[in-house]
Amino acid sequence: MHVLVIGSGLAGINAALLASEFADVTLLSKSDLQETNTQRAQGGIAAAVAALDDPALHAEDTIRAGAGLCDPAAVHALTIGGASAIERLLQLGVDFDRGGDGELALATEGAHSTPRVLHAGGDRTGLHIQSALIERLAAANVDVRIGVAVTHLAVEAGRCVGATTGGGETILADAVMLATGGAGALYQTSTNPGNATGDGVALAFRAGAVVRDPEFVQFHPTALVGSDSAFLISEALRGEGAVLLNAAGDRFMTDIHADAELAPRSVVAQAMTETMRRDGSDHVSLDISHRDSDFLRERFPGVYRGALQRGYDITAGPIPIAPAAHYHMGGVYTDIDGRTTVQGLFAAGECASTGAHGANRVASNSLLEAAVFSTRAIASVRRHASQAEFPHGEVTALRLHPQFGAPSWRALKQTMNEFVGISRTEEDLRYAMGRFNRWSEHREGLIDQSLALATLTARLIADAALQRTETRGSHLRLDYPNANPDWQRHSLWQLARE
Ligand code: FAD
Ligand code: SIN
Repeated sequence: MHVLVIGSGLAGINAALLASEFADVTLLSKSDLQETNTQRAQGGIAAAVAALDDPALHAEDTIRAGAGLCDPAAVHALTIGGASAIERLLQLGVDFDRGGDGELALATEGAHSTPRVLHAGGDRTGLHIQSALIERLAAANVDVRIGVAVTHLAVEAGRCVGATTGGGETILADAVMLATGGAGALYQTSTNPGNATGDGVALAFRAGAVVRDPEFVQFHPTALVGSDSAFLISEALRGEGAVLLNAAGDRFMTDIHADAELAPRSVVAQAMTETMRRDGSDHVSLDISHRDSDFLRERFPGVYRGALQRGYDITAGPIPIAPAAHYHMGGVYTDIDGRTTVQGLFAAGECASTGAHGANRVASNSLLEAAVFSTRAIASVRRHASQAEFPHGEVTALRLHPQFGAPSWRALKQTMNEFVGISRTEEDLRYAMGRFNRWSEHREGLIDQSLALATLTARLIADAALQRTETRGSHLRLDYPNANPDWQRHSLWQLARE
């Protein structure tokens, strides 16, 4: 059996390592192995491992934040899988931080009702996970190819049989696993690396798979303003008492939610956006300088140094922050065993929509999702499982030009930032869709295949955001400010059959 894994983050490498126990494995990564969202993770990985915690409580917190769109079976699989995912990461060599008593140290983050976030190297959890995985991969029997971008999936008689790379090579496989990560880099302002352009969603969509809820893009509340890329200031700072201040220097989250700065991420990001609008400012401030500076340097070495390099000292006073595109809740529809609706095609990690996050992901649940569902997906591959059953609900079938793409990355990212951002309106979204339609009509020649994939995912996000005439979770429609019970359902998208 040959398994082709696309992506070198937590989902991809974990899958490749597991598959190498029973199959020949090829792993492709379009950039260096460590250029992943995984590598950038700061706060940590959530799992109900404390004596007083319980997967059922973790599930309750996850479902509460998910704004009515979590799939209980997926949430259950996620939270019940927490302890064994942590056990596996420990076995792979991830050195999670421990307290003086030798027990795993657990932090608090937004929407978690109890401390349950494990971290490594203080706030450098992703770096520690990625490094441990890369070390294991080097020792495993896996054919690893770096700098190889997949541009098409090969489908024969409805079955995915491999993938074609930018260089034109087709690699055949018995099972293809998408682990291509997120889509934050479709936006100008994003915490993601530049390669996080939603390729997996577009690849799967073109191959005929169902894509679910693409409109749900999470904007992380606290990215540093005034830096080249949106450098993330971990939510864990708020877990350690950081407060958000408006232009007058007053806390504003206390008036908005009982959990104040630790309210669900969408609530905080949207309250910040409204405060910035009222203040006529491009930022609010985050202040943790009341905590001991030695503690801050030790607990948040990555954030401390990263902010300092950009001219801000978190120990000295408030720093300017604003929301930035961070995480894609929508993605390739999978069942809880990582199966897509196309036979032979599996997906896990951020590119998948398992239903575990609903309309708003809880902090530190995505590393867990990548670990748990990549493991489940490879178990499906091993038992030669067929494709997922079709999800319930109405599917929008789209007919799209195969060479459809934006004229430039700049045009694409600017469109997403300005018209499909954190606060959306029908007027803006129609304007964005007008651009996508014009690009579709006028781009008949050969275009950059990566840009074509990115544009397709962006278009799905914009179209779904336009269709969803309500505000729910991370999807904020200024013209429909409330949740509409009729919309308590997923949006489903598929390529129209000729
Ligand atoms: P990634 O780790 O992003 O890996 C994607 C891989 O796919 C890359 O190797 C890429 O090169 C490859 N790829 C993409 N397209 C192609 C293609 N066409 N061909 C070939 N290869 C391709 N989550 C948490 O739970 N806790 C946190 O503390 C946390 N902090 C975060 C901090 C930051 C700054 C960011 C950006 C994210 C954070 N997240 C956090 C989210 C979390 O890191 C990601 O959701 C998770 O790591 C995704 O893992 P993945 O394996 O799915 O994808
Ligand atoms: C953070 O550290 O704030 C990021 C956590 C996450 O995205 O889950």
